[in-house]
Amino acid sequence: MTLRKRYDLATSHLEPPFAIVDLAAFRSNAANLTRRAHGKPIRVASKSVRCRTLLEQVLAMDGFAGVMAFTLPEALWLAEERVSDDILVAYPTADQSALARLADDEHAAAVVTVMVDCVEHLDLIEKATGGRPVRVCLDIDAAWRAAGGRIRVGALRSPVRTPEQAGGLAREIARRPGLRLVGLMAYESQIAGVGDDPPGKPVFSRAVRLIQAQSRVELARRRALIVKAVREVADLEFVNGGGTGSVEKTAAEKAVTEVAAGSGLYQSVLFDHYTNFSGSPAALFALPVVRRPAPGVVTVLGGGYLASGVADRSRLPQPYLPSGLRFDAREGAGEVQTPLLGAAADRLRIGDRVWFRHAKAGELCERFDALHLVDGDRVTATVPTYRGEGRTFL
Ligand SMILES: Cc1ncc(COP(=O)(O)O)c(C=O)c1O
Repeated sequence: MTLRKRYDLATSHLEPPFAIVDLAAFRSNAANLTRRAHGKPIRVASKSVRCRTLLEQVLAMDGFAGVMAFTLPEALWLAEERVSDDILVAYPTADQSALARLADDEHAAAVVTVMVDCVEHLDLIEKATGGRPVRVCLDIDAAWRAAGGRIRVGALRSPVRTPEQAGGLAREIARRPGLRLVGLMAYESQIAGVGDDPPGKPVFSRAVRLIQAQSRVELARRRALIVKAVREVADLEFVNGGGTGSVEKTAAEKAVTEVAAGSGLYQSVLFDHYTNFSGSPAALFALPVVRRPAPGVVTVLGGGYLASGVADRSRLPQPYLPSGLRFDAREGAGEVQTPLLGAAADRLRIGDRVWFRHAKAGELCERFDALHLVDGDRVTATVPTYRGEGRTFL
């Protein structure tokens, strides 16, 4: 049976729009990630899953341990729901009331770690918590720089870059009685989040591979020195690095104790073109064909579920099944309807479904209340997304 037939059959009782997760693909993607991690635990990036049931399923698998959350209110909720007893908020917070709630809740304060990269963060945390115990993690800039800093490749995140800066901030944390430095994180977005094999771009691909290779060497050296400097001051429980695109390389660094990954579970479009791994599309959404404006064109309802980031074509969803459909260059993916062009359009009738993939993983869940879990040719469960639980953190 073709994939399309299987998905159509499994969901024949549902009215699109709706979203599914193919459990076989999801499990095989998870196994792929743990195989690549070579025994180092993977902290699951919740922003790329945004479904409590699936987070719990991943955490029950061998090779996964801990959650990388994206906001403190989310982390407090996951702690309250006992999703994990190790929740790292990977981005700094300025949410005073959530910090106060963290300090008020003995369980949350024991299992949640917040991110810091400057003295201002420390002051803010102390003020909000009244100096009560808080676990903190130090975020390190992992970008690659060249030409004396004039060229930077990688996300603009932490201002802490050198072993001296990291050691200095670690000492400042140690001076504050409520704060406990338990972790260090350095996320190399320029390696983990940039495909090195985009189709039809041989020159660009070569440049990406060259920069990634240099960045890997530079970061491995610097990360080891930073970990050493910080370990002189604090007893670190974990050193986190990497993401879906870099799991095996990051895990191979001795100084790294765990890697993070999430997008590789759903295998969203932006993770399709890497030489070191390939996953199976696991999260899809179905839209109904609602009209046929002209030969070679069908129109589906909705579809404009664009991903965050630089606003270019890579943020569009992908018409996936049947194959051979494309957006109209002038309309793209529409707010309420989306024309699709291509020979396959003439074989579609009103009421048929077109299956799409989102460019990013977890953002799909901000569009749908529920995910229908497909096992073989049946929907075996329907589970709420974060949004479906009324939890829209960002
Ligand atoms: C701090 C951090 N670690 C890891 C990741 C990787 O997550 P994913 O595997 O979903 O790309 C991200 C993604 O942006 C991140 O911000």
